[in-house]
Amino acid sequence: MATINFDKEKKLIFSAIQPTGTFTLGNYLGAVKNWGPLQEEYNCIYAVADLHSITVRQEPAKLRQNSMQAYALMQACGLDPEKSILFFQSHNHNHAELSWVLSCYTQFGELGRMTQFKDKSQKHADNINAGLFTYPVLMAADILAYNADLVPIGVDQKQHLELARNIAQRFNQVYGDFFTLPEPFIPRMGAKVMSLQDPTKKMSKSDENPNACILILDDKDTIIRKFKRAVTDSEAEVRYAQGKDGINNLMTIYSIVTGKSLEDVEKEFEGKGYGDFKLAVGEAVADHLAPVREKFDRLMADKAYMKKCYTEGAEKAMMITQRTLSKVYRKVGFTDFR
Ligand code: TRP
Repeated sequence: MATINFDKEKKLIFSAIQPTGTFTLGNYLGAVKNWGPLQEEYNCIYAVADLHSITVRQEPAKLRQNSMQAYALMQACGLDPEKSILFFQSHNHNHAELSWVLSCYTQFGELGRMTQFKDKSQKHADNINAGLFTYPVLMAADILAYNADLVPIGVDQKQHLELARNIAQRFNQVYGDFFTLPEPFIPRMGAKVMSLQDPTKKMSKSDENPNACILILDDKDTIIRKFKRAVTDSEAEVRYAQGKDGINNLMTIYSIVTGKSLEDVEKEFEGKGYGDFKLAVGEAVADHLAPVREKFDRLMADKAYMKKCYTEGAEKAMMITQRTLSKVYRKVGFTDFR
């Protein structure tokens, strides 16, 4: 039986990622890279949000593959299954169960105001299903089931976290202080990485131009090729300045992955052309990401180890959430069982 070795003094972080393929270099440098170090300071629980992903139509084989990849990726990016709890959301039935109860403490109007719901119902006009609507309630259940203190999220999820707090507060008002009110966790550093094709826009996986975005599992040749094609300016001077968005972006990336200051980068490339600079950035990024890619490949090839990790992860997760759910069931007035 799995045992949880959390330190009671530390705060609890919960987050979940949707199994929609890999991370971008922007996700990685902005947030994901911090996951490993955070484990020293916090108790961490991370799920692959497979339940959430079926709110839009998924191809079953593809979803299964993407979920496994997302799980491997968490570990490849530094999360350690011995220190943290890493599991698939669908393996812990308590999430869906708590979600039902919480949905009875969430107003129709509140859910209708969620901007992501409005956006997604426009995008998937042929499939505005009830799950898409109640999506934030399941997310609240994910978080509240563990009484998480902190939730690392991007800005797009802030409204959902706010709703989770409101649901928790409402429940607490009726039944006495019970749920911890979760707070958003904004990582300390967090560089903003821009598109390689339009450096005024954030780097995004959903960009139509594949050259705009580096994926952390891209191979070395692909990474170098994309940097070679990066949009710059006509000045041919590696200098951080206003109006040089493309070069500023490349300098920022290079500075983070090499640990050099922007000034040092300017000096290093003084008198050199953009061709040399882009190649250097590409190589530095590829070297920086190589260990992630290698670990990912090793994990994906070791099915038995992966299975052991996610099974134990789900067992640990359930130990925590079963207690929460039992208490909730008792509070709302369900009859004791066993
Ligand atoms: N909805 C989140 C996203 O799309 C993923 C998610 C699901 C999540 N449950 C969560 C994030 C709980 C934080 C906490 O990014």
